[in-house]
Amino acid sequence: TPIDAPADPAMALAALREELLSRPDLPAFAARATQPVFGEGPVGAALMFVGEQPGDEEDIAGRPFVGPAGRLLDRALAQAGVERRDAYLTNAVKHFKFTPTGKRRIHQSPDAGDITYYRPFLAREVAAVAPRLVVSLGASALTALTGKKLPVLKTRGQVVTALGGQPVFATVHPSYLLRLPDAEAQAAGFADFVADLRAAQAHTQ
Ligand code: URA
Repeated sequence: TPIDAPADPAMALAALREELLSRPDLPAFAARATQPVFGEGPVGAALMFVGEQPGDEEDIAGRPFVGPAGRLLDRALAQAGVERRDAYLTNAVKHFKFTPTGKRRIHQSPDAGDITYYRPFLAREVAAVAPRLVVSLGASALTALTGKKLPVLKTRGQVVTALGGQPVFATVHPSYLLRLPDAEAQAAGFADFVADLRAAQAHTQ
């Protein structure tokens, strides 16, 4: 369902934060996270990037995309000529979901229920930021935004409509590039990702 842009977007985002800090019905994994990780960036940004969920480093820092995937995203944004500080970055799921194994905390993918739980928050965040284009990074973000299980590799580079008319440009998650088998595949994957980011930016101009 479409959500109208709030009269005071900054206040709407602040209310969202407050709610995520104090809700009694958060999923169990949220209580094990250090903190919720909110979106970051200017209201009215032309581009809004949506990832999956905070990782280990994001959970500790309280900021999105500051770990390995974030550093790769930074490099790709720089190559595509997109200023990170001009964009709004957030995640479909706002808490780090992990399996504790000794000292290390292993990332656990959010399930459909987790994505559904956080979806109204994401919808309100999109409405407040009111970007020209949302860029979904990976499958979880695409599902959260569209409510459908679209195949990322077939949908990438296309603009689909989501969350009540919001245009969403699909691409891969930077972690996917980190998992490609060899240097050659990674270089090709990175180049394709940069091309997607360029195309996304062109859609906003
Ligand atoms: N991966 C994500 O999807 N989001 C982050 O913030 C970091 C890594």
